[in-house]
Amino acid sequence: MEVVIRKAEDTDRETFLYFVQGLSKFNRSNHPEEVTYDDYETVLNAITKKAAETFDERDHRVHILLAFLNGQAVGYALGRVFDQDGTADNGTGKMGLFDELFVLNEARGHGIGKKLIDSLIDWFKNEEIHRIKLHAYSWNNNAKKLYERLGFKEYAVS
Ligand SMILES: CC(C)(COP(=O)(O)OP(=O)(O)OC[C@H]1O[C@@H](n2cnc3c(N)ncnc32)[C@H](O)[C@@H]1OP(=O)(O)O)[C@@H](O)C(=O)NCCC(=O)NCCS
Repeated sequence: MEVVIRKAEDTDRETFLYFVQGLSKFNRSNHPEEVTYDDYETVLNAITKKAAETFDERDHRVHILLAFLNGQAVGYALGRVFDQDGTADNGTGKMGLFDELFVLNEARGHGIGKKLIDSLIDWFKNEEIHRIKLHAYSWNNNAKKLYERLGFKEYAVS
């Protein structure tokens, strides 16, 4: 089993958009019924459009990684560097945002998610980032457990 993690290149655009949609569909299928009243096709189009802009306009503050298992693309992670404004009483200044993480269902449980996170953390360290934030839905126990094992701690409830 060979796992390769590498930075996304221009030719990976369609793969990236496919995985972004995969993450959205996963989330949608887990949200409670009462919040899924809208037209999901419209939502998915908006998400895809925004993701395409993120990909096309990515610069030194955006890092997109793809994971390959035996040569097949199976997942991605997206990290950003941002400036937390001066009113943030839980830490201001340059910060890392761990924005998106997704591994295809059939490739889960082989450590690929952890490898994607480790690679993003290395990138943040190179950017001299000392704090990383991320968001996880309350129902996403798999992701929460993974993040907590890697040292992330819950600090907010929405
Ligand atoms: C969260 C996610 C990226 C983890 O990816 P992964 O490649 O399975 O991650 P890893 O293999 O490094 O570790 C996952 C851990 O969860 C367990 N796990 C999670 N989902 C699993 C699955 N479908 N099958 C087997 N194990 C799973 C593993 O046992 C492992 O725990 P362990 O280290 O104690 O054995 C993946 O489950 C996923 O894409 N989920 C849907 C999207 C999502 O939740 N994204 C995060 C948004 S905040």
